[in-house]
Amino acid sequence: MIPFNHLGWIFKTFGSRVYPKEVRHGLCKFLNVLDSRAKVLDVGAGTGMMCEFAQACRDDLLLSAVDPAPGMLKFSPTYVTAHEASAEALPFDDNHFDCILMGEALHHFREVDLALEQAVRVLKDTGKLFIYDFNIQTWMGKIICHGEKLLGEPGNFFEPEVLKTKLETYGFSVKIKHYAWRYTISAVLEKK
Ligand SMILES: C[S@@+](CC[C@H](N)C(=O)[O-])C[C@H]1O[C@@H](n2cnc3c(N)ncnc32)[C@H](O)[C@@H]1O
Repeated sequence: MIPFNHLGWIFKTFGSRVYPKEVRHGLCKFLNVLDSRAKVLDVGAGTGMMCEFAQACRDDLLLSAVDPAPGMLKFSPTYVTAHEASAEALPFDDNHFDCILMGEALHHFREVDLALEQAVRVLKDTGKLFIYDFNIQTWMGKIICHGEKLLGEPGNFFEPEVLKTKLETYGFSVKIKHYAWRYTISAVLEKK
């Protein structure tokens, strides 16, 4: 397994470089439609990188972060409420958040379906989901996936279209954007 608990300072120092500028712009556009003081949850937040990006474009949001590694969470900014927990067991009430962010995190979840069920549960009826991850269809995505599996990680990487179809079964309408070997998903939930 990757020892995230000991890698907080590395992610804090270098983590933002993994994110293309266009992804950060896309995230800002995605967050733009949220109401003032909307509740946003960063799942697999690590040091709270996605929260930092969110705060840079919308400083009126209420930001929370979840990660099982306290050694990552301890680097999260003071304006973020951090919770030590996993995506598969979110410690929040139903219908609590307006928006969920997952940056470079989904492929680390051992039980992706359980994590998505939890995301749907804690999201409000028309909640939003933003995912940033590596595309397993590309050579770089394949190398990263192979490397992570060698390290004992689950390597739950998706072809973006496959993830789109999966999210649609949970009631999301989904848009994909490609950035070479990376992609983002912007999804809106419609709970029945
Ligand atoms: C590559 S880091 C990304 C961190 C951060 N989102 C970023 O963009 O810098 C992946 C994170 O997922 C977390 N993680 C691993 N398994 C998890 C799980 N089951 N639920 C939630 N987070 C998990 C790790 O502890 C780690 O902090």
